[in-house]
Amino acid sequence: MAIQRTLSIIKPDATAKGVIGAILARFEAEGLRVCAMKKIHMSREVAEGFYAVHAARPFFGELTEFMSSGPCVVIALEGEDAIAANRRIMGATNPAEAAEGTLRALYADSIGENAVHGSDAPETAAVEIAYFFAGTELH
Ligand code: CMP
Repeated sequence: MAIQRTLSIIKPDATAKGVIGAILARFEAEGLRVCAMKKIHMSREVAEGFYAVHAARPFFGELTEFMSSGPCVVIALEGEDAIAANRRIMGATNPAEAAEGTLRALYADSIGENAVHGSDAPETAAVEIAYFFAGTELH
């Protein structure tokens, strides 16, 4: 196991529900440390850039419309095996398949409006963190 960083996004459905604090408390309780954090409202273009890897998917339009529909909180998290730890805490992409007690089981409404995003690998984590944060903002 190694210390890693990962990007989390608290999505517009979750910020609208007033569960930012609950989600942050969960990350900290599970041993993930906040390196950088900000609340932003992405333009459609910024959301399209972030999810460019999904540009050919049929849900790309729906995804980028939703992600630019309201404010998000973007967070760089650090900890032991942080990428896998965050994915375990989030649960499955589809909340109908998410294990009990996971963030998506607790707070997500659908596969599209699924409360949180988390990086899926070290390479994507580095790209995703750099998309939102300068090196001097991470500490
Ligand atoms: P996320 O972890 O942010 O990464 C890509 C997102 O695409 C994913 O969470 C889902 O919210 C969304 N997504 C994946 N599959 C579908 C789908 N079939 N319909 C709508 N959105 C989807």
